[in-house]
Amino acid sequence: MKQDLLTFADWSQPELNALLELALKVKTTPAEFQQVLAGKSLVALFEKPSLRTRVSFDIGINRLGGHMVYLDSQAGKLAGREDTLDMGANLACWADAIIARVYSHKTLEDLATAARVPVVNALCDLYHPCQALADYLSLKEHFGELKGLPLCYIGDGNNVSNSLMLVGAILGADVRIVTPAGYEPDKEMVDKARQRTAQSGGSITISNDLAAAEGCKALYTDTWLSMGDDTPLEQIKEVFMPYQLNMPLLKKSGASAVMHCQPAHRDLEITSELIDSDYSLLFLQAENRMHAQNAILISLLGQ
Ligand code: CP
Ligand code: NVA
Repeated sequence: MKQDLLTFADWSQPELNALLELALKVKTTPAEFQQVLAGKSLVALFEKPSLRTRVSFDIGINRLGGHMVYLDSQAGKLAGREDTLDMGANLACWADAIIARVYSHKTLEDLATAARVPVVNALCDLYHPCQALADYLSLKEHFGELKGLPLCYIGDGNNVSNSLMLVGAILGADVRIVTPAGYEPDKEMVDKARQRTAQSGGSITISNDLAAAEGCKALYTDTWLSMGDDTPLEQIKEVFMPYQLNMPLLKKSGASAVMHCQPAHRDLEITSELIDSDYSLLFLQAENRMHAQNAILISLLGQ
């Protein structure tokens, strides 16, 4: 049976830990994996722009001996041209896997239903699983133990915070999400993550109060306006500015690391001072996107 990677929601803690170990191995002993995808072709379908995801998949697949075909659905005028189910079934005629960055999670589910090959979520409205895996790989490298690790995401409750929360809950981390009132993660998403903490020993805290960041080892933020959200920045800036990730906030929390999935908006959700400081894990996260994704591809397609 083919396996898709849409959310990580159905992964167990041992499975995720094994995947992180594999990612570390891919990173440290790349020569062992040079031929894992030899003769395999993967299609990457993007409905939205991307720097990190596109390039890290393309170069990563190349390093595993495989080949990637990039499809920009807007430039190629593919959007709305045919039913998603038909598109998925067609792509599966030639490709060994489909990587897709889409507006709606439902599009991924349709692709997964129609295609007899694995589908990998490269970001949708609800999740960014590849990002979360790279983030926990970075945290593991930087701090060692993930179980009980206190980290705080500050900003907009979005796809990145959802995946950080869900994967963290499975791994047993102490994940705190602090947002302005009205920008909290969806209750359903929080419940889904909380259910996993019963077994993992992790915890999920949702708050509007920055005091929740105190005692955390790492602070994380993301853009206040995700791709596809046309709200004028001026309209939300006042609400979000008190939640900016800056040096006084970092010092107050006692954290020793700052994270951001990027693209970062300097001096909006995070200060330049922090991005350019020794506290920054931003480029470790970016580098680890490739290793994390390669581990995913090896686990889905390796044999
Ligand atoms: N973090 C991330 O997914 O970056 P891109 O949007 O550039 O792919
Ligand atoms: N939340 C952001 C993440 C970008 C990598 C977005 O969806 O645009």
